[in-house]
Amino acid sequence: WVSVYILTHNICVGSASMVSTLSINTRVSPAPPQVRSTIQSLQSSLVQWRRHLHQRPELGFEETLTADFITQQLTQWGIEHQTGIAKTGIVATINGTRPGPVLAIRADMDALPIQELNQVPYRSLHDGKMHACGHDGHVTIALGTAHYLAQHRETFAGTVKIIFQPAEEGPGGAKPMIEAGVLSQPEVDAVIGLHIWNNLPLGTVGVRSGPLMAATEYFHCTLQGRGGHGALPHQTIDSIVVGAQVVNALQTIVARNISPIDSAVVTLGEFHAGTAVNVIADSARLSGTVRYFNPEYRDFLPERMEAIIAGVCQAHGASYQFDYHRLYPPVINDPTMAELVRSVASSVIETPAGVVPECQTMGGEDMAFFLQEKPGCYFFLGSANPDLNLAYPHHHPRFDFDETVLSTGVEIFVRCVERFCTSE
Ligand code: NI
Repeated sequence: WVSVYILTHNICVGSASMVSTLSINTRVSPAPPQVRSTIQSLQSSLVQWRRHLHQRPELGFEETLTADFITQQLTQWGIEHQTGIAKTGIVATINGTRPGPVLAIRADMDALPIQELNQVPYRSLHDGKMHACGHDGHVTIALGTAHYLAQHRETFAGTVKIIFQPAEEGPGGAKPMIEAGVLSQPEVDAVIGLHIWNNLPLGTVGVRSGPLMAATEYFHCTLQGRGGHGALPHQTIDSIVVGAQVVNALQTIVARNISPIDSAVVTLGEFHAGTAVNVIADSARLSGTVRYFNPEYRDFLPERMEAIIAGVCQAHGASYQFDYHRLYPPVINDPTMAELVRSVASSVIETPAGVVPECQTMGGEDMAFFLQEKPGCYFFLGSANPDLNLAYPHHHPRFDFDETVLSTGVEIFVRCVERFCTSE
């Protein structure tokens, strides 16, 4: 269902309000300037790691070379870690020098079934597979953060858990990792994560409180009519005519049933029926994807869809089978954690316009499962650089990003740790 994910990346504005349960030390203590220079001295290593990973893309739950590379680096740096969680997932644990809270940082590891068209020295060595969403960058930024923190344990209290998660593109590695207990022992207080984002230019960070990405669900519907001769329609139940009315009627859900203040999508991506010009189709199959931010629509949308399908079928004497699948819930950020990331990002980016406050997409992400369990914040790290021809959209065979975001990402994570993991 990668095609389900490809239908994403629209920017739109929704709304929701939340009450945070976290209390965080929000005193802004200016980070010592050597933090930035230390991290920037890592940049050439970050580029090297990212290109190593980019050349070896692996699909969900098959990330064995990726996991081996992560394990090798963590071992070399003396960082305690556990492997083989949800098949290929890894959790690294880095303790500060004083007791304090536990912050989890999540990075997804998987690539896509796409043939890379970039002619770069570090292009994919695996035929038909490509890091076309930037997850090679996410693993690299998480490794850079682990490397820095392990060498600067005196700069934070408590524990940082770095979660390397398989299969974000599907079927989803977040849920099995949570079920395997990655958020306990020690119990995680909050979780953060980022997506390298070519929908935003280099030098920007997209962060907001409340919903950031949409719930991702999909459906298949088979309409059963009665086939027959194309010249004798009165002896048939034409499943194409029934299907056409179902397609039209489903459009009224977003247009007439969802509050105009909210956002939702009902997309029919497939309509298959018929075999010949003079045959009335016996059955038709419709499939599509559903997106929304507001969790209140979780049951309403499939119920309304089925009511419409059943009503149209009844009017024409057809029958139906409707299968509805929930993939990922909406990505909803905690207000306090979003404020922490926003504040850190504005200190790292250093241009007021660099923090984009109302960035949203109807795309989906299984980071949502972590955010259902713990307060946290997921955010977008702007990575497009049209001047260097690095602005293709995610999931495109020419996708690539400006690698200077790697050290920016590490600095944002490190400063989030310094701000969150205090002993007060
Ligand atoms: Ni992605």
